[in-house]
Amino acid sequence: VSGIWGRNIKYSIFGESHGKGIGIVIDGFPAGMKLDLEEIQFEMSRRAPGKSELTTSRKEADKVEILSGYFNGATTGTPLCAVIYNTNTISKDYDVIKNIIRPGHADYTGKARYDGFNDFRGSGHFSGRITASLVFAGAIAKQLLEREGIFIGSHIYSIYNIYDTPFDMNNVSLESLSELKQMDFPLFDKTVSSDMKNCILKAKEEEDSVGGIIEAAVINLPVGMGDPFFDSLESTLAHLLFSIPAVKGVEFGAGFKIAGMKGSDANDEFYIENNKIKTHSNNNGGLLGGITNGMPLIFRCAIKPPASIGKLQRTVDLSTGENTELSIQGRHDPSIVLRAVPVVEAAAAMAIADYIFQKGR
Ligand SMILES: Cc1cc2nc3c(=O)[nH]c(=O)nc-3n(C[C@H](O)[C@H](O)[C@H](O)COP(=O)(O)O)c2cc1C
Repeated sequence: VSGIWGRNIKYSIFGESHGKGIGIVIDGFPAGMKLDLEEIQFEMSRRAPGKSELTTSRKEADKVEILSGYFNGATTGTPLCAVIYNTNTISKDYDVIKNIIRPGHADYTGKARYDGFNDFRGSGHFSGRITASLVFAGAIAKQLLEREGIFIGSHIYSIYNIYDTPFDMNNVSLESLSELKQMDFPLFDKTVSSDMKNCILKAKEEEDSVGGIIEAAVINLPVGMGDPFFDSLESTLAHLLFSIPAVKGVEFGAGFKIAGMKGSDANDEFYIENNKIKTHSNNNGGLLGGITNGMPLIFRCAIKPPASIGKLQRTVDLSTGENTELSIQGRHDPSIVLRAVPVVEAAAAMAIADYIFQKGR
């Protein structure tokens, strides 16, 4: 199986893009947790498409309906089930990919894995739409973390070859994270905004697409959260972040750059201030031995350019067994990066929330 994850809280995700709906069942949240439904819907709207010409023109409000596990404003402790009904589906857009496999998408591997029984309409279970359920689960996990004083925020670090200013890895304030969350196009350096947007629009015009990097920070994590080896906080985060369709790279702290440093530069030297142990740099991204060290946890996700593009590409028609060419029509995102921002935060919140409930901590 692949749709179930979690050690202390169990998540079971379901649905197809053009089926009746998508959703998630969450098992293991304690009874009596008050939920801020407005805040949940706000997170959903951060991911929802159709808000500007930078994203697909599909109009999906992504309104969540909670079916169970929630009563009189609080969780009941029994499985919490949420659905988002599909409303704006145009399945004929997808007839062409029934047999002609899209380069860069999961049509070929999905067919192979499910013996051709997979629902290919709208990319089925491989659609980015499925991540709406992650955002719902993440919104609740975030509320849980915020009660512990832990906050997550992120920004668009790059679009194609245009870069924002990175986080100051030693110092991330709650104010800066809150500010990013309220922004339609979250950046530190607002002067790169129009270049990034134009880059996306140009790709759209050229019937092409562009990728980018999302950089995220988690602050106020207690020192000592996580485990070594298989359940290291890095592994858990990476597990969930790589579950997000289109994420092709995850790095922590200095990430791949650390390989080109000397130990004397890479080591984060310690100091003590007001009885708190801190580090002068944060190349390890807040984690040592898979366990938090009290510095901001910093990670980046590489998001690939979406596969569905109008530009003519070489591929294979599985019904004839012949080489062919494909130009994908329909309503696709010229870049996923903006819409993936709340998804990345949600996956991180789910990963960290799992440790909050770890028995015997
Ligand atoms: C929010 C979101 C929206 C997406 N929208 C599209 C899209 O419009 N077109 C597309 O080809 N891929 C889109 N994707 C990515 C595909 O779902 C993904 O590339 C595909 O399932 C193959 O998986 P992989 O890229 O992880 O290998 C989206 C992903 C996310 C997270």
